[in-house]
Amino acid sequence: MKNENSSRRSFLTKTIAGVTGSVVASSIPVAALAGNQYSNAVLSDESHRFLTQPYLQAPTTNSMTIMWLTNQLCLNWVEYGETEQLGSKAQQSKKGMLNTHTRINCVSLQHLKPNTKYYYKVFSKQIIEFQPYKMTLGETISSELYHFSTLDPKAEEVNWLVMNDIHDRPNSFGDLLKINGDRPFDFVFLNGDMFDYQTNEKQIIDHLLTPCSAFSSTKPLLYVRGNHETRGQFSRDFLNYYYNYNNSEYYTFQWGPVFAIVLDTGEDKPDDHPVYAGSVSFDAYREEQAIWLEQQMKTKAYKNAKFRVVMMHIPHLHSDDWHGTTECKRLFGPLFEKYKIDLFVAGHTHKYGLYEPCEEHSYHFAIGGGPNTGNRTLTRINANTKTLKLEMLKDDGSLIGEFIRPTKR
Ligand SMILES: [Fe+2]
Repeated sequence: MKNENSSRRSFLTKTIAGVTGSVVASSIPVAALAGNQYSNAVLSDESHRFLTQPYLQAPTTNSMTIMWLTNQLCLNWVEYGETEQLGSKAQQSKKGMLNTHTRINCVSLQHLKPNTKYYYKVFSKQIIEFQPYKMTLGETISSELYHFSTLDPKAEEVNWLVMNDIHDRPNSFGDLLKINGDRPFDFVFLNGDMFDYQTNEKQIIDHLLTPCSAFSSTKPLLYVRGNHETRGQFSRDFLNYYYNYNNSEYYTFQWGPVFAIVLDTGEDKPDDHPVYAGSVSFDAYREEQAIWLEQQMKTKAYKNAKFRVVMMHIPHLHSDDWHGTTECKRLFGPLFEKYKIDLFVAGHTHKYGLYEPCEEHSYHFAIGGGPNTGNRTLTRINANTKTLKLEMLKDDGSLIGEFIRPTKR
């Protein structure tokens, strides 16, 4: 055993010695700190292994966040570079301490070149024992070689896919990706209710991260919760398994000609409903987002964008009149009109629909379907500097309908 460990150590040393330009990434996502709370559950005799492939989060022109899960607590890092030889190494650090003793691994690569292809591999070195004055390390495992591209700040086009309301049907990811065929896309946006409620980590791996690994090691996965991800005993823990921009559940991003706003619409019932037993405060949370939303809509980037797109789970119109819906309508609806969004994309109703601008809304309005076969949808959005196009496809590959609108700016 001793020899085995020592040969593993020397392999690691060699690997690190071969790496130049090693950097320690700063501004650690909160998600990356989540490992300790699971430590009791995972220390077992199992050999060290990955529970997921790496998955890409929160891409920008000069950064990429990479997450992956392991079955053992570990010290983790990413090796990356512009060639398959890699050459740089990044570890996440906060307040002088590297992100160790975790199984939810998260490293943000910083200071990357825009519009550049990078190759990468993730590494995890098992921590067998973490004593105050003695740390015993075990086996190092490494992933396959993957690649991603940073965003092009001058991009004139963007393509993305939207899926919603999968509701614990992991096969739906593959089924819906299949109908996209080999048409290119830059990222996938998940518009809430991937689950019925949050139970445990295995559910997240089996029903989200593993099926999404068909694309998420090379194309970023962007996420917003629906009302179902806020339910269940693991709903608070679930937040640690993905990383959105600024580690927020509501966020903006700019990609080519599109300025996108993502809102977290919360629960559908009032906060004081008996099923929550006093455990939620989504009214205040939506109010907070409305203030933030208006701030975003006053920015130059928003005003100047060729297209303004809002994505959120519960649609404020063409929906029911439950509390969540009416609150979204009251708080967000007037701002969508005042600041003139171009496209709105939601899910939630389990009844797909495409609605042209009308008296109720001045923008195109899309609601994806789900979760049963025959009612599932894949939404494809393409924007260039002149035209925004949305296509909604049914799970049999047929076209439900499309929007095509020219830019007004
Ligand atoms: Fe929903």
